[in-house]
Amino acid sequence: MQSIQAVRGMNDILPDAVGWWRRVENAAREVLESFGYREVRTPLAEKLELFARSIGESTDIVEKEMYAFQDRNGEWIALRPEATASIVRSYIQHGLHSDSALRKLYEIGPMFRHERPQKGRYRQFHQIDAEAFGTDSPMIDAEMMHMLSLLVERIGISGVILHVNTLGCPECRQTYKEILKGFLKEKADLFCPDCVRRRETNPLRVFDCKVEKCQALLDRAPMLIDYVCRDCRAHFDAVKDYLDKLATRYEVNPRIVRGLDYYMRTTFEVISDRLGAQNAIGGGGRYNGLVRDLGGPDVAAIGFAIGVERLIMLLQQEREQILRAPRFFLVGLGEKPLEKAFLLLQQLRGRGLEAEMDYGGRSLKSQMRRADKSGARYVLILGENELVQRQIQVRDMLAGTQELLPLDAIVEGVEGLRD
Ligand code: HAM
Repeated sequence: MQSIQAVRGMNDILPDAVGWWRRVENAAREVLESFGYREVRTPLAEKLELFARSIGESTDIVEKEMYAFQDRNGEWIALRPEATASIVRSYIQHGLHSDSALRKLYEIGPMFRHERPQKGRYRQFHQIDAEAFGTDSPMIDAEMMHMLSLLVERIGISGVILHVNTLGCPECRQTYKEILKGFLKEKADLFCPDCVRRRETNPLRVFDCKVEKCQALLDRAPMLIDYVCRDCRAHFDAVKDYLDKLATRYEVNPRIVRGLDYYMRTTFEVISDRLGAQNAIGGGGRYNGLVRDLGGPDVAAIGFAIGVERLIMLLQQEREQILRAPRFFLVGLGEKPLEKAFLLLQQLRGRGLEAEMDYGGRSLKSQMRRADKSGARYVLILGENELVQRQIQVRDMLAGTQELLPLDAIVEGVEGLRD
């Protein structure tokens, strides 16, 4: 009989992987709580209307990706695609705003989106989500991004970039939308059909289009950041100023438009260049109108969410690199050079230098393939000619350069090479 498999895009987390999850969750709790965030746990399912009204009817999430169904009473229910809407609902429902206090809440748990599964993109995935209610101060925008950067760093991930933008307020965004629509109309026959449709439904989303031709056209599009009103500009300038003062590194990226409708003013994403197409580890922004739009008081708010699977993917990559990659890989071409490479290998190791080789002595091409796979920074290549001339080729795999060094002093020679 055929065995039953898990639902596509929904993964088991097996005992060997659980350690990574705990490490990430523990670090998140520690950092978030030290910034004054307190945990909430909201239901996995909510009324469909909550997500339609907050995330937006014409977003991809609501239009195409929702796990929605009618329950036995005929009520439309959806598995949560994100945590913000649920936390806002809970915040209003339980009157957490009543003492006018600043509320900082966080939640860790599974989310559901019916997307096409691929590396880093799943149908059940997990978020670490943080939300701060009750202040419009640019200080909290900066603190939030500072905390996000710190969290990523504390977990042990390097090489990520914080991209920051402002989406203005509904007023200045409306003015800009008309300008953008004008631009899109002018070039209507050059854009893909999706972008032409977005022009009417949600024009800002054209910036998220994956079609190269559209991206190239958008290089000349008017940018929202150049059209924001005085107050929004002042807010954004203050946020950047605080980020500088907190020594949080960031880049202004006017193309960060985000896929959810509730944002205004500050928006941000943390991007890694080591994740392939699904390169956003986390994202968020300010959403001042949402609490009011969902029936609560007019409370300012800002938040972000991090994708745990993507964090763990990076963490594993980084750890593997640390654990596995030797610094040197030796290649010997022919019997004598291979034997010499084998002896050199032991000498390097004797000096505490991590080195590896392909003992089989196969063709240059296949040895180089192994060298590449090993992740070694330097490959030492010894052929018959080099052996006679007492020289050895040293290739820097990172820089893509190669130089000939004296064979008899090679151990000392490679010790001083750059990291
Ligand atoms: P988001 O950008 O839709 O924002 O999702 C945040 C993060 O969740 C992404 O950067 C990514 O790491 C992860 N993620 C999203 N979809 C998937 C998926 N299908 N598979 C794996 N990981 C995924 C939000 O959800 C907002 N609620 C963030 C926020 C909080 N804004 C304000 N407060």
